[in-house]
Amino acid sequence: MESYRIEGGAPLSGAVRVDGAKNAALPACIASLLTDERVVLHRVPQLRDVSTILYTLGALGGRVVRHADHVSISACGSLSEEADAYSVRQMRASFLVLGPLVARLGQAVVPLPGGCAIGRRPIDLHLDGLKALGARVAEKEGAVVVTAERLRGARIELSYPSVGATEQILMAASLAKGETVIENGAVEPEVEDLARLLRKMGAEIEVVDRTYRVAGASRLRGAEHELIPDRMEAGTLLLAGAVTGGSVTVAGCRSDHLAPLLGLLESSGAGLTIDGEMVTVRGPVRPLPVDVVTAPHPGFPTDLHPPLAAYLSLAAGASSLVEAVFEGRFAYTDALCAMGARITRTGAALTIGGVESLNGRAVAATDIRGGAAMVLAGLAADGYTTVTQLEHIERGYARLEEKLVSLGARIERDDE
Ligand code: EPU
Repeated sequence: MESYRIEGGAPLSGAVRVDGAKNAALPACIASLLTDERVVLHRVPQLRDVSTILYTLGALGGRVVRHADHVSISACGSLSEEADAYSVRQMRASFLVLGPLVARLGQAVVPLPGGCAIGRRPIDLHLDGLKALGARVAEKEGAVVVTAERLRGARIELSYPSVGATEQILMAASLAKGETVIENGAVEPEVEDLARLLRKMGAEIEVVDRTYRVAGASRLRGAEHELIPDRMEAGTLLLAGAVTGGSVTVAGCRSDHLAPLLGLLESSGAGLTIDGEMVTVRGPVRPLPVDVVTAPHPGFPTDLHPPLAAYLSLAAGASSLVEAVFEGRFAYTDALCAMGARITRTGAALTIGGVESLNGRAVAATDIRGGAAMVLAGLAADGYTTVTQLEHIERGYARLEEKLVSLGARIERDDE
């Protein structure tokens, strides 16, 4: 069982470089299924979720070559239309192979997805989108079976701007006949990064506000693409600097992608300097309380809710944090409360009381971002914190402890 042993209380200081974005890497790898030419992706983070998707693509017949920070994928030979059940159940993003496979092969069989335990995560918008493009959808033995001779462009209005459904439809529509319009699409930077890659592959995609227009092509070509920086990793590292009252520079990031967090850090009394691709935070003695509601981009990102809660646990006053994207993203709060945080929950709303100090405890990561919240709490707490079930954290953060140690954190990793 792998764990971190964290000795809290050291203010972090120094500079650290952020990796490419996990949530841009996963759909970009999957987009390689849309062409028989090679797709080369740069700045690919070394993460479990990336390994899972590359395994899935390899099992489908793709040729995958992984280097230190770039990956080359060729889906040129004969491809299978049936995705590997284990990897799709491990990680929900694997479900995105559905659209590209049906667009390319005319049929796809993909098991129902798994993923982080953060509440109900339906797939209705994915399936309704593919149906609108002319696909027939059936369920058989725990898998979705989708068939279509050739997808046809359509007007699709999403009832919610789902990241995954927008990506699924964008990829399928890129090989459909005619124009597709997606209204109320997600505009997270990772979705726009996928649209950039698809354009390099030959798709014509325009986006205005939340409306995408896709002119489908009969064939897409290979492309080379550098992924955007990971705003969730950058945000987590900035919060680690702030929660320890330290001074941390995150290099290689996009401050425009981090705007909701940066605004909030300022309101909480943290100092901020933005210099091109570098953002420096100086943590306050104690954060001022703030009120936050998570929302689709450009709102406050749900993925930073748990790390933010760890920071606000030490505020001088009560904050309110409403989770409006995922109904079940609260499992981590028990661990923070065990460490002394005063968090109460009414439905989707947390009241975070704000305490002067947290105490180290043994806690178990519940999901990617919940695990990160526990690490941040441990860095700020008195005494020692042990965080187990690192497999959750490592799905989404590459070498987190190494990066934190380079900033002066006292973390030991135990691989027993
Ligand atoms: N939803 C539906 N029907 C659907 C799809 C989604 O009702 O068919 C609902 C979900 O239940 C949820 C909301 O829409 O309440 C948002 O889900 P969305 O589809 O936008 O999220 P996702 O595509 O499943 C991606 C990220 C998540 C991130 C969310 C929101 C990837 C691989 N995952 O998930 O990242 O939290 O968007 O920004 O891109 C993480 O990195 O820790 C993570 C969970």
